[in-house]
Amino acid sequence: MELKVFEDYPELSVAVATVIIECIRDNPHAVICFASGDTPRLAYQVVADMARKENINMQQCSFIGLDEWLGIPPDNAGSCHYFLQQLLFIPIGARPSQVYLFDAMTANEEEECEKMNNVIVAKGGIDLMIAGVGMNGHIGFNEPGTDIRSLAHVAVLDDTTRTVGQKYFRDKVVISKGITVGLKQVMEAKTLLMMANGQKKATVIRKAVEESISADFPASLIQQHPHAILMTDKEAASALATRIK
Ligand code: F6R
Repeated sequence: MELKVFEDYPELSVAVATVIIECIRDNPHAVICFASGDTPRLAYQVVADMARKENINMQQCSFIGLDEWLGIPPDNAGSCHYFLQQLLFIPIGARPSQVYLFDAMTANEEEECEKMNNVIVAKGGIDLMIAGVGMNGHIGFNEPGTDIRSLAHVAVLDDTTRTVGQKYFRDKVVISKGITVGLKQVMEAKTLLMMANGQKKATVIRKAVEESISADFPASLIQQHPHAILMTDKEAASALATRIK
C-alpha cells in the first residue's frame, strides 16, 4: 500500500482527481466505482473542471455508484444517486447508459444486487475504486464484520453509520439499510484509492494502517490490496506512527 499525505483538503482533492483523469486517459474504457460522501466532494468537482478544460473523452467509460441508502429516493439531495449525478455525472456529460447506480427504491433487493454483480463481471471488473472510509472503518456500506467474500449486498447499517449518515440529509430520515458493492469486489478492483481528510478521521486512518487486518475494521483490508493508494491530508494522517511509502 502506498500512502500519500497532502498539505490540505484542496491539495488532496486535486491529487485524487488527477488519478481519476489519468486512469481515463490511460484506458478510455475504464470502469470506475465512486463513493459518495463529503470526502470526495471536491475531488469530483475538480474532475469535472479538468475534464472540461482538457477536453477528456469519457464516452467509453463505465461509472458505478459504490452504494446507496435503501429507501431514499434519487431526488433526495442526501442520496448517493443525487450526489453523484449532480456533482459528477451531469457535469462530465455522462450518458445514462454509462452509469450504474443501485435503485434504492427497488422492490427486489436481491435482484438489484445481482444486477450490479452482473455489471461488474460483464465489464471485466472495476479498474479504479474511489473509496472513502467511515468512522467505523466501513468501505461503502461494508460494515464491520462483513464477509470479505461478499459481493453486492444489502447491509443493516450499524449505529455509527445511522448517526453519522444524518449529516447528508436536510430533514431527519430513517436510514437503517444500505445496498453496496461487496468487499470482494472492492478488493478485486485493479486499483483501490481510499481517501480521507480531517482530524476526525485520524484515528480511523491509524487503525486502518497500523492495526491488524480484519473485516471487523474493513478499511484495514487496504493493507492487503495488491495495488492500493491511501491519500489523506495531514490532519487525517496525524495519528500515524509511521509513514509508509
Ligand atoms: C458513501 C460511502 C461511505 C463513505 C464514508 C465516509 O458512498 O461509500 O463509505 O465513504 O462513510 O463518508 P464521508 O466522506 O462523508 O466522511
